[in-house]
Amino acid sequence: MRRIAVVPGSFDPVTLGHLDVIERAAGLFDELHVLVVHNPGKTALLPISRRVELLQKSIRDAGIAGNIVVASWSMGLLVDYCLEVGASVLIKGIRSQVDVAYETPMAIVNRNLAAVETVFLLPDPAHAHVSSSLVRQVAALGGDIAPYVPEAVAEFLQKAPV
Ligand code: PNS
Repeated sequence: MRRIAVVPGSFDPVTLGHLDVIERAAGLFDELHVLVVHNPGKTALLPISRRVELLQKSIRDAGIAGNIVVASWSMGLLVDYCLEVGASVLIKGIRSQVDVAYETPMAIVNRNLAAVETVFLLPDPAHAHVSSSLVRQVAALGGDIAPYVPEAVAEFLQKAPV
């Protein structure tokens, strides 16, 4: 049986922390879907199509594209996407206890909705302080985001400052 997992997120933009979790997850499953989902609780920086493009480029540049599919989802529940592609596992990166507290209720609800389990992965502690919202803030104020994001993202945001 093919083991298929989904890494969902806003990825606005993808960070080195995300990429680290994606690479670890890709090593654990036969097929990994990296799924851009609109989070209505957040003010967006990039349109979904650009986030998908930057994810695809960053994953290609990192040399880990072999078993990874990048997609977006706006048709309803995240677990509906999982059912559509035959995924039984969601992957979430955990940086701290704050992430555990945020992710736990969603993991329980997703399991109740469709028997989709959530697996928490720990990124390299070097990325523990990195978040898309911090990157958005630093970029908006003209700071250097290169240490926190894949090259493709740094290049794009330098060319098209926010
Ligand atoms: O990167 P983010 O913004 O922390 O990702 C949050 C995301 C997109 C994974 C979360 O908002 C989500 O799961 N949205 C899907 C909507 C859904 O299915 N909700 C019901 C079960 S929790």
